[in-house]
Amino acid sequence: MPQNYSVARSLEIYERAGELIPGRTQLISRRSSQFAHGMSPIYAQRAKGARFIDVDENEYIDWVNAVGAIILGHADDVVDTAVKEQIDRGSLYTVNNALEIELAELLNEVIPSSEMVRYTKSGGEANAMAARIARGVSGRDIILFSGYHGWHDWYQSANYLVDPESGEFPFAGIEPIGVPKVLAGTALPFVWGNLESLETLLKEHAGSVAAIMMEPLRSEMPPQGYLEGVKALAKAHDVILIFDEVSCGWRLRIGGAQELVGATPDMTVLAKAMSNGYPMGAVVGSRDVMQPAAQMFISSSYWSDNLGLVATLVTIRELQRRDSAKRFEEIGETLRIALNKAIADVGLSGACTGLFWNPSITLDLPNEALRPKVNTLFIQEMARRGVHCNMSFKATLAHTQEDIQATANIATQALAVVKKGLDSGDLDNLLQSDLKKEPFRRLVR
Ligand SMILES: Cc1ncc(COP(=O)(O)O)c(C=O)c1O
Repeated sequence: MPQNYSVARSLEIYERAGELIPGRTQLISRRSSQFAHGMSPIYAQRAKGARFIDVDENEYIDWVNAVGAIILGHADDVVDTAVKEQIDRGSLYTVNNALEIELAELLNEVIPSSEMVRYTKSGGEANAMAARIARGVSGRDIILFSGYHGWHDWYQSANYLVDPESGEFPFAGIEPIGVPKVLAGTALPFVWGNLESLETLLKEHAGSVAAIMMEPLRSEMPPQGYLEGVKALAKAHDVILIFDEVSCGWRLRIGGAQELVGATPDMTVLAKAMSNGYPMGAVVGSRDVMQPAAQMFISSSYWSDNLGLVATLVTIRELQRRDSAKRFEEIGETLRIALNKAIADVGLSGACTGLFWNPSITLDLPNEALRPKVNTLFIQEMARRGVHCNMSFKATLAHTQEDIQATANIATQALAVVKKGLDSGDLDNLLQSDLKKEPFRRLVR
């Protein structure tokens, strides 16, 4: 462990951000409060492959990867060369770029349920587009959802209601300030994994539901037959089924979770991971559902940007060429086994579990109230030894066996510190960071 490890420069810049940028960052998951504030890096100056260097010149193995948006690895040579060549030809033309059609054909080829395609620049925007299309096609207003779907009004209006599981706001800690109250009741959450709760809502709002929008899965496989059951309910109630594959997407399969599970939706929302970090999103779906969008006001200048198109085309081809699904499974499984060994070696109880694309550590604790301290201490001890992570790990294809082994070795040391704190009952003494905050719960595990 470097004796003189410091993130002083990051902290100094973050302080200035407080004066200039409300909330300090553009994405809530990038706030320093999500990590070990005081010890985790906050600002990077360069990144390559599986690593980045922060503004204090510390180097880290990266297991966050722009919250999943980097899938091949930072600054991938093949994607970046193609993007640079496109920059030289023009980043945004006055007329259209035929690459839009080439990419649509490729998306139709790789995504089982795709027949027509629209583009966006982000995931939240793509979800808002899908919601608009579903409402436009059906002539109905209510969207039943299960998952995180972005910052737009249609979705955040659900925070005027309560979480069906906990009875609290679906997004505890984030208030729906600025979201029109008249939208309350137009987006209703349902419990993932429970067909009955969905059916009850469909019956209660019969004739008013436009769509079921859901993350098909996150870190766990859905219960056997669950997604097929959702599809059958959607069909029985004549409701459009939308899969938000922004997060789970292409680490599982290039065609998304739907390719792995076999249940297909009417519409699919894509963004992070499709373009290795270049802004890009898409809504794809059946001809029946997508064609009517031609009559709807769905239009934005930068949706025609050339760089996202090129980056996406090349990212898909590189995922195919590098046999991504097999490789992600190898990386995820090897990491999971190595982290479980680390937990056992230091004598802690707990496990690294979850699907290979997002293995997560959960330690068994004598008291649940200790979890924020334990998690923060783990992240802190990983950071100071050169691993940037949360309690879950998202790989890229650039992560090597050496990166996995180095991460496991460092995790063994970090977990030993956690054990020391738990054994002594004095975690506070070991913490040199503010406690990590959980900004909102996600409805899908
Ligand atoms: C499932 C899901 N949908 C939508 C979004 C929103 O995407 P963006 O942050 O690009 O707006 C995210 C972002 O994390 C997500 O995980």
